[in-house]
Amino acid sequence: MIVGTLRENKNHEYRVGLTPESVHELASHGHEVLVESGAGEGIGAHDALYERAGGRIVSDVADIFARAEMIVKVKELQPDERALLRPGQILYAYLHLAPDPEQTRDLMASGAICIAYETVTDDSGGLPLLKPMSQVAGRMSIQAGATALEKANGGRGVLLGGVPGVLPAKVAVIGGGVVGFNAAQMAAGLGADVTVLDRDPQVLERLGMYFEARAKTRFSNRANLAECVADADLVIGAVLIPGAAAPKLVTTEMLKTMKKGAVLVDVAIDQGGCFETSRPTTHADPTYVIDGVVHYCVANMPGAVAHTSTYALNNVTLPHALRIANLGWREAMRRDPHLLAGLNVWDGKVTYQAVADDLGLPYTPAADALA
Ligand SMILES: NC(=O)c1ccc[n+]([C@@H]2O[C@H](COP(=O)([O-])OP(=O)(O)OC[C@H]3O[C@@H](n4cnc5c(N)ncnc54)[C@H](O)[C@@H]3O)[C@@H](O)[C@H]2O)c1
Repeated sequence: MIVGTLRENKNHEYRVGLTPESVHELASHGHEVLVESGAGEGIGAHDALYERAGGRIVSDVADIFARAEMIVKVKELQPDERALLRPGQILYAYLHLAPDPEQTRDLMASGAICIAYETVTDDSGGLPLLKPMSQVAGRMSIQAGATALEKANGGRGVLLGGVPGVLPAKVAVIGGGVVGFNAAQMAAGLGADVTVLDRDPQVLERLGMYFEARAKTRFSNRANLAECVADADLVIGAVLIPGAAAPKLVTTEMLKTMKKGAVLVDVAIDQGGCFETSRPTTHADPTYVIDGVVHYCVANMPGAVAHTSTYALNNVTLPHALRIANLGWREAMRRDPHLLAGLNVWDGKVTYQAVADDLGLPYTPAADALA
């Protein structure tokens, strides 16, 4: 199969769909890989590295669209790129179609086979191609929080781990899923006094067994949340109600009870955020202050650590890309219902129920594409 990968062109997006190592893997299975010149610059992977890995550098994007049978990307295509998609061409990337009618319309019009990373599933009911980005964001939230806690950045001037003779900072993590677990792991590792709040007893039990005495767990209700938030130096927002906007758990009133110079890191901002006072920020200007509390609300946190994020993403996306290239998309999906769950648009039809429902479009079961 001819596979193409492009330079990402969203603001401050430095990740890339295929690393040189992934290109090498595809090439060694006999596939031809077209790489847009400069695609890997953001992770320090120069064109020469891709060539050494067996890729072919192409400077004209239109050329890649004209030749590649599958386009592998990180983020969705921009409108001018969508116009270049061909019927029967495979697009494999994060798509997030539900809130994006314009993109969905263009993908339907293209006749392409559009596989969304974010809806590919696994045996445990998880979303394995989303998970690494949550791991990155969870771990990064503590770094971001620690920096914001520094005096020069508007924080209280508290060191997360304290020092001998001085108490560590108090960190409250709201939501103990992938983001929350990774945040708690980092904070506990630095010696902070960590409490994780969740409302799912099984999650609390798992966290309790893993952390033992290194982190506390607490049931998430209004009273417990209010107490933890008022007491915390750093609060991490990490809740998710799948398919829904994040609940506003930390209210404006609760904010007033917080210490001056305390920090909120709202990782759930991509779902609207779980603090009432959150609004999306960018890596260029990541924080703002309300009532003396520093807010960090960057919606694409993994982009800042593009190197780690790209490799973490390729670890989970490449096996599917290889199977699609080796078997063709239909056979690969016939053999793997979890990959079939990633099919969002095929032959001008929406094949993912939640996308169709959210956009008021007719739904065609993905299995129809396999007939
Ligand atoms: N900003 C970014 O760059 C970035 C990157 C990755 C993920 N995210 C976002 O982070 C959020 C969390 O993702 P995740 O992968 O950890 O999800 P997850 O499903 O693994 O975990 C969410 C947790 O929230 C808990 N929860 C739900 N309601 C709660 C409540 N009222 N109180 C306490 N806990 C509650 C759930 O029980 C679950 O354990 C999502 O919105 C995700 O999109 C953001």
